[in-house]
Amino acid sequence: MINNQDLAQENISIDIKLLLEAIYLKYGHDFRNYSQAHLKRRILHRLMLSNINSISEMQYKVLHEPEFMQEILTDFSINVTEMFRDPAFYLTMRKDVLPVLRTYPYIKIWHAGCSTGEEVYSMAILLEEEGLLDKTLIYATDNNETVLKVAKKAEYSTENLKNYQKNYEKGGGKGKLSDYYEEKGSVIKFDPRFRKRIVFSEHNLVTDNVFTEVHLIICRNVLIYFNRNLQNRVIKLFHDSLMKEGVLGIGSKESVDYSRYGDAFEYINKNQKIYIKKSGNDE
Ligand SMILES: C[S@@+](CC[C@H](N)C(=O)[O-])C[C@H]1O[C@@H](n2cnc3c(N)ncnc32)[C@H](O)[C@@H]1O
Repeated sequence: MINNQDLAQENISIDIKLLLEAIYLKYGHDFRNYSQAHLKRRILHRLMLSNINSISEMQYKVLHEPEFMQEILTDFSINVTEMFRDPAFYLTMRKDVLPVLRTYPYIKIWHAGCSTGEEVYSMAILLEEEGLLDKTLIYATDNNETVLKVAKKAEYSTENLKNYQKNYEKGGGKGKLSDYYEEKGSVIKFDPRFRKRIVFSEHNLVTDNVFTEVHLIICRNVLIYFNRNLQNRVIKLFHDSLMKEGVLGIGSKESVDYSRYGDAFEYINKNQKIYIKKSGNDE
């Protein structure tokens, strides 16, 4: 028997679907295959902050007030990141992945969903310390142009430096993090030699396709915001973008195991969610 609570949940779910359809039809932003749980949290949060009583009222406001749509876009986009986030991931990269990449004449890396760029500069530092930066090109993409602007500037607040220095050490850093930036007042700016090896550009994992073949893809804490359909699409995109025996690194709470392409990858390190593309799987 369906009780009142189930009915209310079902209505919320329908209202959310209608809101997402309206956003897509009016503005072309496609959140229809993002995780319902994530969107519901963000929508209910916005409802609490505004003088709006229901999701259908929110839909009306979205359709008639483009400025409100901007607020919703900000609500839906979670851009939290940090330098050497989950340091053990970088330790594994150093120990198990870079020795393989070293054997290639050149290295191409794709950071998908790079946000404000902290993990991209972390990787560049790692490559520099392993003597590989000069033969590497990093493509770093996100669908949010505001965060990409920050990433391109390579400037960050000094506020989190202590934490970043700690992460760097735990990630196997060979020197001091301060060897790689200049401090000016309350900001640090990374050495321009890193910027020369990084191409930042807009790429939407929902709608865009493969843009180049790479040896390593890093896409952490992004799949978690997508539903199973979209995860399948994105994992296929990664599979198609990887060269033979290319490597994929995803977030600690994410997995390709249960996706349609789970069999096309095997673990290099299960704890760090680092996979290698199996050979013979090109369809
Ligand atoms: C939580 S951040 C993760 C940042 C970084 N990868 C990390 O792990 O620290 C998620 C990022 O995914 C991006 N993102 C969300 N949907 C996307 C999409 N459809 N295409 C590309 N990037 C997307 C967001 O803009 C955000 O910058």
